[in-house]
Amino acid sequence: MQKLAPLKLGILGSGKGSNFKAIAEAIEEGRLNAEVRIVLSDVEDAGILDYARARGLRAEFLAPGRFRTKLEPEAEARLVALLQEAQVELVVLAGYMRMIKAPMLEAFPRRIVNIHPSLLPKFPGLASWKQALEGGATVTGCTVHYVDGGMDTGPILAQSEVPVLPGDTAESLHARIQVAEHALYPAVLARLAAAR
Ligand code: GRF
Repeated sequence: MQKLAPLKLGILGSGKGSNFKAIAEAIEEGRLNAEVRIVLSDVEDAGILDYARARGLRAEFLAPGRFRTKLEPEAEARLVALLQEAQVELVVLAGYMRMIKAPMLEAFPRRIVNIHPSLLPKFPGLASWKQALEGGATVTGCTVHYVDGGMDTGPILAQSEVPVLPGDTAESLHARIQVAEHALYPAVLARLAAAR
C-alpha cells in the first residue's frame, strides 16, 4: 500500500503553545503523519510563535484588529489567504482565544478542529477548569471537536476524562487537564491523518 502524504497542518494559537509542542513532538517521533506548514498567532509575543521559530517553522503574528473576541473581517480574510497559500489541509486551534467566523468556516468546511478543557457540552467558554471546580464536578476533562459558528459547539471527535481531586486548585486541575490534552490532541490528529 502506498504511504499517505503527511497531512498539512496550519496551527493557530494565542498562548504558550504546550498543545502545539505535543503535536510537534508527535510528528517528530513518527506518531502523527503530518507536517506543520504555518503557525499563526493573534498575540505578537505568544510563546507558541517562539516555540515554532525555535523549531525552524514558519510562524507569523497576524494583527487581529479592533475586536477582542474575534478577528476584524480584513484580518480573517488575511488569515484565510495565509493558510491557503501554505496549502493547509487541516486548521488546528491550539489555545486560540478568538471566535472563528464565516470566512474561515467557508474556506475550511469541517477542516478546523479545536481542543477545549472540559467534557463538552459541559463548561463551554473561558476558564472551564474553574467552572468545573466551582460547579462541584468530580470528573472533568478535555474535548477535541470540529469548529462551527458557535462557542465550543461543533461535533465532538474525542474526549478524555480527568478526575477532580480533593484539595484541587484551579491551577492544579488545569495542569492535570493539560496532561490529558497533550495525549489526546496528537492521537486524534493521527486518526484524522490516517482516515483520509
Ligand atoms: C488549553 O487548555 C486548551 O484546552 C485551551 O487553551 C489552552 C491552551 O494551552 N483551548 P496551550 O497554549 O496549548 O498551552
